[in-house]
Amino acid sequence: MTPTRETFGNISTASQVVFYLVAVVSCAIFAYGIWRRFRLWRRGQSINLREMLTGNLEQIVEKIRPGMRRLMVDGLGQSRVRGRGLPSKAHALLFAGFMMLLLGTTLLEVNHLAEMVSKKLSFHHGTYYVVYEFTLDMFGLLFLVGTTLFFARRLMRPSSVGHRSSDWLVLVLFLAIGLSGYAVEAFRMAWQQPVGIGASCSPVGRWLASGLSGWSEAQARSGHWVVWWLHSLLVFGFIAAIPYTRLFHVIAGPLNLFLAKPSLGVLQPVTLEQAELEERIGVNDIRHLTTQQLLSLDACMECGRCEDVCPAFATHKPLSPKRIVQDLKGVMEQLATAAPETPLNPHEVISAETLWSCTACSACVNVCPVRIDQLTFIIDLRRNLASEGGLSGTSATALRRMQSSANPWGLPVDERANWAQFPSDAPAS
Ligand code: HEM
Ligand code: SF4
Ligand code: SF4
Repeated sequence: MTPTRETFGNISTASQVVFYLVAVVSCAIFAYGIWRRFRLWRRGQSINLREMLTGNLEQIVEKIRPGMRRLMVDGLGQSRVRGRGLPSKAHALLFAGFMMLLLGTTLLEVNHLAEMVSKKLSFHHGTYYVVYEFTLDMFGLLFLVGTTLFFARRLMRPSSVGHRSSDWLVLVLFLAIGLSGYAVEAFRMAWQQPVGIGASCSPVGRWLASGLSGWSEAQARSGHWVVWWLHSLLVFGFIAAIPYTRLFHVIAGPLNLFLAKPSLGVLQPVTLEQAELEERIGVNDIRHLTTQQLLSLDACMECGRCEDVCPAFATHKPLSPKRIVQDLKGVMEQLATAAPETPLNPHEVISAETLWSCTACSACVNVCPVRIDQLTFIIDLRRNLASEGGLSGTSATALRRMQSSANPWGLPVDERANWAQFPSDAPAS
């Protein structure tokens, strides 16, 4: 007998209709969540996305190539997530498992649609079926192990990682989805009774089904129906929850990887024309950030990598690049309710002392897995402070001395480079 299984086997037509209705509701909640954030991002300065899609095909490909490369290497290849011990391993397993389950479910739906056109178009049988079932059984385990490791990490509560109660919800949802998926398989095998390779290609399901050997076919079918609905509702809950939890990084992260500037952490000069045109220098309203910068705030999953490498944070200065991103995100969220003319000034939540604590070393930018440019936020805010006369301490003194004697040390101008001499170079007295 050719190994296969029926799509929606044991599920009545009425249940299938309800299933698709619930799917539409969950996708609508998901789409609304994305749209809410998209409305906030659009309040930033335009990044001229249309320009990216103008010209002939060759020109368009050339323009989108760097973004696509970042998506492949940093997104799919997870290149910037690696190298951090337990959470990196957890994410690699969870990511690989999730992507394979997503691909598997998509292929199942494609097969179902093809079957509706003609039974002859069905491809979910024979060798394909055996490879499909075995692969998904194995990757499902990776998904569960990755989620369990993240549970362990959350229990350890490292201080640089953000903690919200919804983080537990996400992990519980993932565990429940993985376990109920195997339960569906086990109950299906209990009533379908596959034999030979059709059974052994699902080793986890077969092992679990052995625990149901005493169940009659009718009992196994009822059990299958219950866990099938439970599994479906959990998956729809997960889809709906994406834009409202930390899981939003699965949308905003890749978007930011695609749109991020290649010159991350490189200071951009301010021109006089730009200052005259904008009638300001730097940023003193959240709307002065670009759409891409606002979107990048939503890509932050508070992994703490930037905080861990920040020399200012390590030396107990009042600065954490992760905090800067979260504070700016808080100001961005006020855009949802603020009147268009209400100023939303980030300086009200980020102090001058915090901003001047940055050494501009770029370490935070270099480690961010989703290429958020924390340094440009800091520099733009600092430029605004400086332009408004908000300089204080040694930097203000140095600038004053530059103005009076062209030497930041306050000594004669011809002694300006003396600081660079080795003691042995100094003239003998
Ligand atoms: C562009 C692709 C992605 C990137 C760059 C990315 C990056 C990250 C990073 C850096 C973390 C923090 C891990 C840590 O604490 O070190 C994280 C957390 C997480 N990611 Fe992703 N991720 C991506 C896609 C996905 C996908 C597709 C899923 C699966 C739905 C996923 C699920 C999770 C979960 C559940 C957590 C949080 C675990 C926790 O801390 O409780 N990610 N991600
Ligand atoms: S800014 Fe980047 S590195 Fe820092 S916490 Fe957010 S995602 Fe992690
Ligand atoms: S650039 Fe500034 S915020 Fe980023 S790591 Fe260096 S000191 Fe910290």
